[in-house]
Amino acid sequence: MTEQAQRPFLYVVVCAAGIAADVGRLITAAQERDWEVGVIATPVAMNGFFDTAAVEARTGRPIRSAWRTPGDPRPFPPPDAVVVAPATFNTVNKWAAGLADTLAVATLCESYGLGVPVAVLPCVADALAAHPAYQDSLVRLRGMGVRFGEPYSGEVGEDGVRPEFGWETALDLLGRR
Ligand SMILES: Cc1cc2nc3c(=O)[nH]c(=O)nc-3n(C[C@H](O)[C@H](O)[C@H](O)COP(=O)(O)O)c2cc1C
Repeated sequence: MTEQAQRPFLYVVVCAAGIAADVGRLITAAQERDWEVGVIATPVAMNGFFDTAAVEARTGRPIRSAWRTPGDPRPFPPPDAVVVAPATFNTVNKWAAGLADTLAVATLCESYGLGVPVAVLPCVADALAAHPAYQDSLVRLRGMGVRFGEPYSGEVGEDGVRPEFGWETALDLLGRR
């Protein structure tokens, strides 16, 4: 009997931005590209920002948001890649500063040392993105090899339409079709 090849494992880190309600689109797209997906959400994101039951049904795994209890097995296999979408102002700044106070940020901080590729789609309003700390965070994370999608403010354009959030860009940035 031939052994089935294991699919690569993708961590999808979800932060508390309004656009997170559509994160199912990213998960479906990743699965269509043959990724196995596990979701890690920030504690705030777990509080009504997306349909957690639908995501768990879609991935077949519980969403992780807190650290496991010592002695418990690791709930997910190690990641082959990580996508952060949407990424908030708060999480991007904490990540760059190495302030690992949520499982989501700790996972991102650790990815650098593990050499795991990370792609990020920030959703940050222009007024926040102008803050020098945020600009410094982008420079620092890019210097660590983190791959960023186009800036996205989540704001409605002059035509009264909110631009599409490029969920699939995150997967393109990982270079796997
Ligand atoms: C309805 C709503 C939408 C929000 N959207 C965004 C957003 O698009 N980008 C952002 O950086 N923060 C947004 N925030 C603020 C974050 O939720 C807040 O900064 C939070 O502390 C982020 O936590 P996290 O980075 O741990 O997920 C939003 C808050 C609310 C209540």
